[in-house]
Amino acid sequence: MIRADAHLETRAVHSGMEGLRESGQHTPPIDLSTTYPLPDVEHGGDAYENLATGGDLLPGHSAVYQRLWQPGVARFEDGLAALEGADGAVAFATGMAALSACLLATVTAGKPHIVALRPLYGGTDHVLETGLLGTTVTWVTADEVAGALRPDTGLVILETPANPTLELTDIRRVVKDAGDVPVLVDNTFATPVLQRPIELGATIVLHSATKYLGGHGDVMGGVVATNREWVTRLRQVRALTGALLHPLAAYLLHRGLRTLPVRVRAQQLTAGLLAARLVEHPAAVRVLYPGLPGQDPAGLLGVQAEGAGSLIALDLGSFEAAVRFTESCELITHAVSLGGIDSLVQHPASLTHRPVAAEARPGAGIVRISVGLEHVDDLTADLFTALDAALTVQRQEAHA
Ligand SMILES: Cc1ncc(COP(=O)(O)O)c(C=O)c1O
Repeated sequence: MIRADAHLETRAVHSGMEGLRESGQHTPPIDLSTTYPLPDVEHGGDAYENLATGGDLLPGHSAVYQRLWQPGVARFEDGLAALEGADGAVAFATGMAALSACLLATVTAGKPHIVALRPLYGGTDHVLETGLLGTTVTWVTADEVAGALRPDTGLVILETPANPTLELTDIRRVVKDAGDVPVLVDNTFATPVLQRPIELGATIVLHSATKYLGGHGDVMGGVVATNREWVTRLRQVRALTGALLHPLAAYLLHRGLRTLPVRVRAQQLTAGLLAARLVEHPAAVRVLYPGLPGQDPAGLLGVQAEGAGSLIALDLGSFEAAVRFTESCELITHAVSLGGIDSLVQHPASLTHRPVAAEARPGAGIVRISVGLEHVDDLTADLFTALDAALTVQRQEAHA
């Protein structure tokens, strides 16, 4: 049993493990049951009614059916909620399923208007821009939040650090300007190790658990940490729409939480060293990393967030230079996604941010690097080789 005032590292290792020792187990069992025995029709019916409307599993009652309740998923949710300082959490098959559930919950509550701060992950931008789930969107900067609110505004959505430019947004300020409207923060990049938006007044924290929470590039998931009321609403959306997290995925994500603080801090340390080295290379037109001098004008590092994280964006000045760079990395894999133990590089304008409207799309010369757990000198060598290749392209372009 962990104490209520236990440190984040201790909570990461022990949260969601309740009752295991008493039952003689050391790690959570993986229960693959799709259905659960019912003691009798009356109790089964009560349990069904309760779970399908977003309630907790009642003590001594059946879980009825995996779409309504899954013990391993509930353990992962408890673990993440403990790290985010939330009342609870609701897990989904992917980060996009988690976002979709939040949007459906606000649409069905009669508040379909979303105020969103760009840049956001390309998929989030896409689902908002298309209005696929019945929402409408007003795109704003942090200065424009209050002026964009309407009586039917259901959510204010932001990401900080933002994807892929890594700009920081002052969560407290947006929460203040949003008034009664709940603020949803996508905390995928920072993780609760570096930033806990609920402590800053946000109502909903969303993760693509596929990234740092899993941490090994082998499991997809999404999770929302929030208050009691939203937990109930989101569980109901999940029960009715079915975007469940599989029990095996829940096991891996829960295990990922246990090493999250160590991984995030080690990756961040390497990213800070790398960013400082990258600015020295002549091919790097700009290195976007909030930890570099001048890139945190509002002074949010150390106040809102413990650190700058382990994503770095590089502006190489042109599409061709960016392409040559990604193709020249050898140790670092050219692939989308982020947050794993191995470093990845990708070109957002062509890939993750391809669906974003042209005026809001990241520059064609920008590449994004997710820094993993390799040694900083090996990463430096790989990146400098790729930067040398990009420099050749830049020089050819300059003479063309
Ligand atoms: C910041 C952010 N939010 C949400 C998502 C969507 O998550 P998923 O791919 O797990 O659906 C991603 C995916 O890249 C992301 O980077």
